[in-house]
Formats: sequence, structure tokens, C-alpha cells
Amino acid sequence: MRKPILAGNWKMNKTRDEAIHFLLSVEPNLPKDGVEAVICAPAIILRDLVKRSEVIHVGAQNMNENVSGAYTGEISPVMLKDTKVEYVILGHSERRAYYNETDEKINLKIARALEYELKPIVCVGEVLAERENGTTNKVLKTQIEGAFKDIVISNPDNIVIAYEPVWAIGTGKSATSAQAEDACKYIRELLANLYGAEVSDKIRILYGGSVNTKNIDELMSMPNIDGGLVGGASLKEADFITLCKGCVK
Ligand code: 13P
Repeated sequence: MRKPILAGNWKMNKTRDEAIHFLLSVEPNLPKDGVEAVICAPAIILRDLVKRSEVIHVGAQNMNENVSGAYTGEISPVMLKDTKVEYVILGHSERRAYYNETDEKINLKIARALEYELKPIVCVGEVLAERENGTTNKVLKTQIEGAFKDIVISNPDNIVIAYEPVWAIGTGKSATSAQAEDACKYIRELLANLYGAEVSDKIRILYGGSVNTKNIDELMSMPNIDGGLVGGASLKEADFITLCKGCVK
């Protein structure tokens, strides 16, 4: 019922030429249906990717919540819309940790993304200390309720959540499929409380954090995991293809 998504988050990697090489070699080998392949690339190469991609959907990795103005170095929703970008990652843990993004700020960004018909991929997840002291669900509740405060969801197909436990990102230590499923199921319950079960059943919830070609099948066998948000492994052409194939249920 929910079409799986395999989204690569390239973070601060790949030049324009490397990205185009990736597209040309990957696209002919992707599954024809059953999965939506997305690449969230550095802003400076988004226009090239949008122009050249035939199969892969293109997303940004961040966006300012303002439409225009004196915000040196920032990129606005108007600019992303003008570039014909489809998705935007919001609230990634690296943005929360290094650029002080709060739930309030992420909430403003989600509202603005929806206003400009950009599909947000909203990241939530606990740090290691929170997992260890048993407050994972409390953290997820605060993050989801904060991010979606006063947000109206008119089309649940256009909202994506990514559960990314911070301790699993870039560490090679993925959450187990049971841990990932528990968290994604809980996030769906939180969304059901906010928007009703019919809406929450349609929202795609991805798992992210050391997803690789070896663990994708088990993660995807879980009922509440609708795909992956992948960092390191999404940079490798062969792995990206395998991961997309692994998402076809
Ligand atoms: P890794 O797949 O490299 O652990 O990164 C996950 C991530 O942060 C995706 O947004």
C-alpha cells in the first residue's frame, strides 16, 4: 500500500561530474517499479541532477524557513521550487547537532516546505545516552509533536519521516530490525494520535543509520519500515542499486 522509498543522503559529498556519472550508470539498472529512488544532493548540483535524471527523484538536504531576505549562505523554499526539486530533508541530526536546529525551527521549515509543495523528509531519533536510559520514545514523542505542531496534512503521500537513531549514523552499528521496527511503529502511533489512523497508515516511515546491502532485506521485512535513508552506502553506485532492489517488497 505504501510505496517504499530508498533515499540517498549524499551529505557533503560528490562534485557535479561525479554525480552525473552516478546517474548515468545507476539509472538503467534500477527496478522499474516498486520503489521510489531519491537522491538528496548538495544544493549546488541540484539543478544538474533535476535536468539529467529520468528515474531518480531529487531532493535537497536542508532549507531555510524564510522565503527570501538577509540570510547569508542560506537557500529558500522558493529557490528549491524554482530548481524543480521534489523532496527536502528537514531536521537531520547533523543539522540539529552542528547548526542548533530545534524542533520549533524544524516545525517552521515543514510548514514552509508544504506551502511551496516540497515533500519534507523529517528526521527524528535519539542519541546513545537516551537509548541507554530508556527515553527513546519520550524523545521521539517530543520531536514528532514539536515538528508537526499546527501542521495540516492534506496529502499524507507527500510527508516522509525518517527514524535515524543518532548512535547508528555513520558508525557501522545499525539498529537491529526489531529496534528499528519498534521505533517506526511508535512514530506511526504518534502520527495516528495527531492525524488519525487513515492518515498515519499512508505516511512513509524510513529507517536510517548504517543501512547497507547486508541489512536492507531484514529491515524491509518489518511491517512499519517503508524504506531507508542512507548515507555512506548511497554514495556507491552498485550499493545504491542493490539497496533499491532490496526495497521492492
Ligand atoms: P549512514 O548511512 O552513513 O549511517 O548515514 C545515515 C544518515 O545520516 C542518512 O541521513
